[in-house]
Amino acid sequence: MTTSSHMIELRDVTHAYRTKAGPLPVLDRLSIQIPENSFCAVVGPSGCGKSTLTRLVSGLMRPDQGEVWLHSKLVTSPRPTVGMAFQNPVLLEWRSILENVLLPMEIVKSPMSKAEATERAHQLLDLVGLTGFADKRPSELSGGMRQRASLCRSIIHKPDVLILDEPFGALDAFTREDLWCTMHDLREAEPFTCLLITHDLRESVFLADQVVVMSGRPAHAQHVMNVDLSGKRTLEDLYSKNAVDMLAILRHQIQVAQGRTVDTPAEARA
Ligand SMILES: Nc1ncnc2c1ncn2[C@@H]1O[C@H](COP(=O)(O)OP(=O)(O)OP(=O)(O)O)[C@@H](O)[C@H]1O
Ligand SMILES: [Mg+2]
Repeated sequence: MTTSSHMIELRDVTHAYRTKAGPLPVLDRLSIQIPENSFCAVVGPSGCGKSTLTRLVSGLMRPDQGEVWLHSKLVTSPRPTVGMAFQNPVLLEWRSILENVLLPMEIVKSPMSKAEATERAHQLLDLVGLTGFADKRPSELSGGMRQRASLCRSIIHKPDVLILDEPFGALDAFTREDLWCTMHDLREAEPFTCLLITHDLRESVFLADQVVVMSGRPAHAQHVMNVDLSGKRTLEDLYSKNAVDMLAILRHQIQVAQGRTVDTPAEARA
């Protein structure tokens, strides 16, 4: 068993759920490599095992076979160095936005003092456009604003790795695009390694350095695409020929994963 030089690595991960009807094979020799400070988006058909993958990387579950490595350590239990955000930002209504953002500091050991963490929380809230909302309750914010607060909460403790499971899925198209730009701002301010699960191919191309298309269940990495959009990305880049070509290949790969076509065009094999 050799250690991993990547921030996140899944090596031949195979997993089945035990159900009343018998074992349900979900992952079949899934391998993914994510370098430090890079952004990996994972797309694939509904039910192929994407959320299962996040549980394995965060250590909430162990695979039947194969290895999950995080920061050169084999993952065998939940890891505090991981930040997470989901489709529905679960914010506690009896706490202010600031207190919600600070929640991980009560759970995770951190060298930050309370005053430092509070200052950092205010800085993050400013960065995501929530200046002046620190003392509000979650119900006083829109869905997009709640998701912004949830992103701040997921990185308040400076995790090595951020795992996002469809965090923008419930938002309208314009708010979603706003939040994509917020993600770029957050990464620019403070590099981190990110694993994003999404159904939105444009989102994957806009945000990621690498897009992994998972096959149908039991899933393996069917296709890996490096996104080479140079410089600071803007939403307009999504209309460039390069981006449109990448989206076409991803679209095709999803159809292959869904079993709708087996034909692979030449450019998708490149
Ligand atoms: N705890 C569990 N026990 C049994 N089966 C499960 C469990 N969790 C998930 N499954 C099954 O495993 C398969 C993969 O589920 P998972 O949630 O990982 O898919 P997904 O790719 O995230 O789907 P979606 O895109 O719809 O969110 C599904 O068929 C699901 O029904
Ligand atoms: Mg899921």
